[in-house]
Amino acid sequence: MTFDLGSGTVLVTGGASGIGLATVELLLDGGADRCAIIDLNPDPQIIAQLTERFGDARVVALACNVSDQDEVHSTVASVAETGEIAGLVNCAGTLLAKPSLELTLSDLHRLFDVHVAGSLFTAQAAARSWIASSTPGVIVNVSSVASTFGWPGRLPYPIAKAGIEALTRTLAVEWARWGIRVNAVAPGSVDSPLMAEGRRPAGVKPLAEVADRHALGRVASASEIAAVIAFLLSTQSSFVTGTVVPVDGGFNITKDSAKELAQ
Ligand SMILES: NC(=O)c1ccc[n+]([C@@H]2O[C@H](COP(=O)([O-])OP(=O)(O)OC[C@H]3O[C@@H](n4cnc5c(N)ncnc54)[C@H](O)[C@@H]3O)[C@@H](O)[C@H]2O)c1
Repeated sequence: MTFDLGSGTVLVTGGASGIGLATVELLLDGGADRCAIIDLNPDPQIIAQLTERFGDARVVALACNVSDQDEVHSTVASVAETGEIAGLVNCAGTLLAKPSLELTLSDLHRLFDVHVAGSLFTAQAAARSWIASSTPGVIVNVSSVASTFGWPGRLPYPIAKAGIEALTRTLAVEWARWGIRVNAVAPGSVDSPLMAEGRRPAGVKPLAEVADRHALGRVASASEIAAVIAFLLSTQSSFVTGTVVPVDGGFNITKDSAKELAQ
């Protein structure tokens, strides 16, 4: 697949794993000049594989915690100094399994700071660079079907994802006057390290057993989510903004969330 992504570097938070990594690979395969992976501690082996496959000049890995506003702004500024920013994908994320009765303020912070504050901070940093150079920009956030159904024992995650969707709509309206488009994808279950880890706690069904909650009868590969992210980043979606695109294999039409509880 080739995408018209404009020139410059696409920033991908959480780009060292799962959906983010698949997005980096698809973008570099599909016409992006360069990708900057913004992740907590990008695995050097993964980065070495990417540079071997795509060339040193097309991949940069930057260790950064997206919840730290100063760190995000200086990291994005360091990329902007090397040339234009072509787009931003916010894939950094984490899960928490804990009964709602036991949740603490720090549990809420753990999730909201990465998903909601992190998506805002990177968006601010990218938008400032686009506004300063009078160039249009494009942002794709990653929500989840979890924003739309009751997910027992996971409360901070669905709230954080609902927050990402609200952020997407508001920034799309607020920043449209600078030609900045902001959209999100809402995946169903995706085979990724996050999902493998998230399904480890006792009482949670393994990934293979949630396949039937999707009308297509299977979970997604990370590259199937990346394909829609790449479309939303590209000029092929130039009239799309402020929307959340489900990439869920029909999850939202099965209305079967009670099956989430282990027997
Ligand atoms: N896997 C799924 O089933 C699924 C479904 C719907 C939505 N999502 C969302 O997709 C996104 C990517 O998830 P994934 O499944 O690829 O997970 P993953 O664990 O494979 O990748 C997430 C990446 O985010 C990075 N990260 C976490 N906290 C960070 C921080 N504070 N700063 C910088 N980087 C940080 C991790 O280091 C990791 O590389 C997440 O937002 C997740 O909520 C995943």
